[in-house]
Amino acid sequence: GRALDLSGRHVVVSAGGTREAIDPVRFIGNRSSGLQGYALARTAAARGARVTLVAANVALPDPAGVTVVGVESALQLREAVLEAAAGADAVVMAAAVADFRPAARSESKIKKTAAEPEAIHLVKNPDILAELGERRREGGKPCPAVIVGFAAETDDVLANGRAKLARKGCDLLVVNQVGENLAFGTPDNAAVVLAADGEPVEIPRGPKEELADVVWDLVAARLP
Ligand code: C5P
Repeated sequence: GRALDLSGRHVVVSAGGTREAIDPVRFIGNRSSGLQGYALARTAAARGARVTLVAANVALPDPAGVTVVGVESALQLREAVLEAAAGADAVVMAAAVADFRPAARSESKIKKTAAEPEAIHLVKNPDILAELGERRREGGKPCPAVIVGFAAETDDVLANGRAKLARKGCDLLVVNQVGENLAFGTPDNAAVVLAADGEPVEIPRGPKEELADVVWDLVAARLP
């Protein structure tokens, strides 16, 4: 059964979407609401886990009994996740992390000018999920036993998902079926969970709590 099957465990969940500053008032962001990550945090806490929730720009109340660490950018999210992950049993990366950030953040608000604006130069952000997998492969440091990623794919879901699972070195990859009013900002989700060590598990359309519970079932089965 599920009741308190995660007690004595420490899990880390990232949620929301990062913001990459352009100047003091502007950023590059995304539409992640944080609902799926918060559902994961709530369900893990309900099953007895100690939960650290790294939340990026989420307008949702803190779940009861969960330690919430607020962050804004991908670099801040990386710091918070890596710190919490060091002593954790599992990490679930549900946050939408920006792949790129402006190379420089302007100290003052960029002014409107008569001329065409300057281009915003972007640089790559670190891939936190891949970094967790790499650390574990290298050994030496304490690492979570189970690492879970999320991915939104629109086509060739299984093939693209498989490739991403391998590339990122995670144990489970929850592949969201985006579109048709699913995933972003909605209470419902549908997904297929790919496993490095087993068959894909289909999660039919339903509340994000239901998807979260299936993810924790698959995590719990892989904890030593
Ligand atoms: O490569 P893609 O962005 O599709 O991968 C999504 C997964 O990787 C999510 O679990 C997300 O949290 C994680 N990710 C990350 N660091 C990034 C980009 C994505 O940890 N820079």
